[in-house]
Amino acid sequence: MEEDKHQVETEEAMASYLITFLSILLFASFHLSFSITDGLVANGNFELGPKPSDMKGTVVIGGARSIPEWEISGFVEYIKSGQKQGDMLLVVPEGAFAVRLGNEASIKQTIQVIKGMYYSITFVAARTCAQEERLNISVPPHSGVLPMQTLYSSNGFNAHAWAWKAQSSLAQIVIHNPGVEEDPACGPLIDSVAIKALYPPRPTNKNILKNGGFEEGPYVFPNTSWGVLIPPNIEDDHSPLPGWMVESLKAVKYIDSAHFSVPQGRRAVELVAGKESAIAQVARTTPGTTYVLSFAVGDASNSCEGSMIVEAFAGKDTIKVPYESKGKGGFKRAALKFEAVSPRTRIMFLSTFYTMRSDDYSSLCGPVIDDVKLLSARKP
Ligand SMILES: *[C@@H]1O[C@H](CO)[C@@H](O)[C@H](O)[C@H]1NC(C)=O
Ligand SMILES: *[C@@H]1O[C@H](CO)[C@@H](O)[C@H](O)[C@H]1NC(C)=O
Repeated sequence: MEEDKHQVETEEAMASYLITFLSILLFASFHLSFSITDGLVANGNFELGPKPSDMKGTVVIGGARSIPEWEISGFVEYIKSGQKQGDMLLVVPEGAFAVRLGNEASIKQTIQVIKGMYYSITFVAARTCAQEERLNISVPPHSGVLPMQTLYSSNGFNAHAWAWKAQSSLAQIVIHNPGVEEDPACGPLIDSVAIKALYPPRPTNKNILKNGGFEEGPYVFPNTSWGVLIPPNIEDDHSPLPGWMVESLKAVKYIDSAHFSVPQGRRAVELVAGKESAIAQVARTTPGTTYVLSFAVGDASNSCEGSMIVEAFAGKDTIKVPYESKGKGGFKRAALKFEAVSPRTRIMFLSTFYTMRSDDYSSLCGPVIDDVKLLSARKP
């Protein structure tokens, strides 16, 4: 009897081990096949196009599934680089093809993600008509309307980033032109759509601020040398630059060491729009304690020349750091010592002046900040 019971128990235990083992195996394979890799989404650069029979001139007429891997709706054009529109030459930033979204047109793609994780999307867009254009990026239930301004590059192309938290294991990315222009063919060109998983960094005993070196951030296209715009009005819970908020009317630019001069590590932030371009983070502090906010101020080596000033704020305390830029790279370090007056201290950076690139008078640029650290000052 005893033995039988033991036997049963052993079998049950075996069965439960087996189930656990199988589910680990299943989970592992699930995990492998379902985890996304950072980079272009399927046909993310639109190099695969509609069949000739699905096109009328540049207009895609073959229905929702005409462009491989994408679902389209509304007035969508498939543009080949070098194509003319009136007297304007349409240039495609990467590869030979892009799409153009007319009024109320959209493109969609559903991707596998991991529920609960944060993701950022980076896409390259250019406006094509004189009007102010906007794009609505959404991964339901989240959405954001991004202004497409030419202020940041003279060729009109910019990479934009946006982020979301996955509510399920499927994410439907929608890029929609909410515009109602007179000319239905007016509307931004879209090329190169990529995603990247974000790993929100935590404060450490070496830095009370999160992501102080800006190393964690959106995907940067290796083939483009114009950085990535982090749009205005970005809250910290859905920021493509984890830990940081963009609390201003204009974007800040995320730059990479492969194409720019970066004070520390591989990434930094360029404050491209004077006082209209600010980044901030709220830090936990102990009232009455003295802290030191240290950071690097430099230039991105992008022909952004002149006298610059970065203003740093820690609550009500502030410091102005002048920096003379020759536009060839370089940086200096600065620090602001302050006594915290509340359990939360808002740390913020902005540039006092607007600056234009000396090689391109229509592009805004500005000082670079990096290696931002907040630590309590040891009492003597
Ligand atoms: C943007 O798109 C989302 C989802 O498609 C929608 O809920 C939201 O209202 C749109 N916003 C604007 C301003 O069009
Ligand atoms: C970068 O350019 C190379 C060569 O032109 C191309 O093979 C690659 O797909 C491009 N990468 C991206 C992310 O666009």
